Amino acid sequence: MTVHFIGAGPGAADLITLRGRDLIAACPVCLYAGSLVPEALLAHCPPGARIVNTAPLSLDAIIDEIRAAHEAGQDVARLHSGDLSVWSAMGEQLRRLRALGIPYDVTPGVPSFAAAAAALGAELTLPGVAQSVVLTRTSGRASAMPDGETLAAFGATGATLAIHLSVHVLARVQTELTPHYGADCPVAVVFRASWPDQRIIRTTLGALDASIGEGERTALILVGHALGAEEFDESRLYAGDYDRRFRPVGTAPRFPE
Ligand SMILES: C[S@@+](CC[C@H](N)C(=O)[O-])C[C@H]1O[C@@H](n2cnc3c(N)ncnc32)[C@H](O)[C@@H]1O
Repeated sequence: MTVHFIGAGPGAADLITLRGRDLIAACPVCLYAGSLVPEALLAHCPPGARIVNTAPLSLDAIIDEIRAAHEAGQDVARLHSGDLSVWSAMGEQLRRLRALGIPYDVTPGVPSFAAAAAALGAELTLPGVAQSVVLTRTSGRASAMPDGETLAAFGATGATLAIHLSVHVLARVQTELTPHYGADCPVAVVFRASWPDQRIIRTTLGALDASIGEGERTALILVGHALGAEEFDESRLYAGDYDRRFRPVGTAPRFPE
């Protein structure tokens, strides 16, 4: 018996890996975080599967479900939105499973920042403009930010920021980041990336209207000069004169064939 943690992707039901889909189809028990996991994915569950929405459950109740499946020798598909490496609450579940001696594995998923970038048709790391992406958030009721992990501190690097769980504090985002990026810095707010009702607002830090965050909370705020930039260097990797292992150039290539 194994608990398969599966990244369910950002919303579109076909943005799940083949491995994730096949695991869902093979498990007689499916626990899914109903707040963001698309219900259409549950169509992959086998007939008669026990399907539980864990959104209203406590951690103890979720572990009780897993323990019952373990005692019955039944594999579990455990679905969380996006990828499991960020803001999935997987860490605390894995710790409990280790303590109980219940086996698990992890299948990655498409994270929401990647779905938002795809919706924008944007590369977040443009040569000479930004070469880092910071996945971050602001403090929430359930999770405080550790000291030092402030928007201003990340903003001081000039990296592209992908700010999660923060569309309700857009005014703060604007105040803290404008001194670092400037009022003309592009901002994109992507609501429900890849869902049928996806919505995109492109603006600048200076013109950011905080009221757009007053309804729908599932949104990513992307900030940085890489968004929409046309003035950036071409990657050296594909330059005709760049000698590399897969495309030796000249009479004395660095990596002879
Ligand atoms: C609890 S976190 C889950 C993050 C998820 N594990 C991931 O890989 O993206 C939820 C936050 O992720 C962002 N998010 C998740 N799905 C999204 C989507 N389809 N479009 C835009 N933002 C999304 C929002 O900022 C939302 O408040």
